[in-house]
Amino acid sequence: MGMKRTALLVGATGLVGESLLRLLLADDEYEKVVVLARRRLMLDHPKLEQHHVDFDNLGPFVSLMRAKDVFCCLGTTIKKAGSQEEFRKVDYGYPLRVAEIAVSQDATQFLIVTAIGADPRSRIFYNRVKGDVERAVIELSFATTHIFRPSILLGDRRESRQGEKLGIVVMKMLSLFMIGPWHKYHPIKAVTVAEAMVAAAKSYRVGVNIYESDAIQRMVGLNS
Ligand SMILES: NC(=O)c1ccc[n+]([C@@H]2O[C@H](COP(=O)([O-])OP(=O)(O)OC[C@H]3O[C@@H](n4cnc5c(N)ncnc54)[C@H](OP(=O)(O)O)[C@@H]3O)[C@@H](O)[C@H]2O)c1
Repeated sequence: MGMKRTALLVGATGLVGESLLRLLLADDEYEKVVVLARRRLMLDHPKLEQHHVDFDNLGPFVSLMRAKDVFCCLGTTIKKAGSQEEFRKVDYGYPLRVAEIAVSQDATQFLIVTAIGADPRSRIFYNRVKGDVERAVIELSFATTHIFRPSILLGDRRESRQGEKLGIVVMKMLSLFMIGPWHKYHPIKAVTVAEAMVAAAKSYRVGVNIYESDAIQRMVGLNS
């Protein structure tokens, strides 16, 4: 298909987003990657166009957000955000605003990382927020929506998250017992999620596609 693609990426400074940005820049099918971030990336590349933004006020950037493929890797933790309300703003409010603008700019596909257990009816606040954002994005009816629900992410994080580190150790130990339906709880590399996102974007699959963590692994040819 001779058509070159354009991508818009939010969350490019994060664990998944950083990997995704590298993959998109290296991919010949993408001629331009627009990144919106609250801080400058330590990266220059001829295909990269970056804008320093405040996600509470995206109005001035709408016309710069024109891309067919929109990738969202935004997110925080309740601890980092400081309150449930602030967490919801980053994990629900910002992705939704980006998605709404993407619709207005004629995007055809929206790809978002949520999390394992995402469910608007969950009793766990975190899972409920992730489920709510999925539902709200689906309601926008992009031609294609890809939702990725990874288990705990592995990768080199610059900041130290003690709780998460402990979680990874425990999950790795428990992985031995995670068979059958539990398989999807295996920790997953952030770069694997990024690779699956690019593969999905290039799959020409239409409608709503939801990938659980084990399916994400399989998309890039990994068994667990
Ligand atoms: N960590 C896990 O184990 C795990 C497991 C399952 C799902 N997830 C979800 O997967 C997604 C990607 O996770 P990740 O670990 O790659 O995320 P991450 O490393 O924490 O990166 C999050 C991204 O969101 C941006 N961001 C956070 N708060 C912001 C704010 N107030 N305003 C503007 N930008 C903000 C960050 O920008 P800055 O660099 O400027 O902070 C960064 O680009 C998230 O939705 C996360 O909830 C994570």
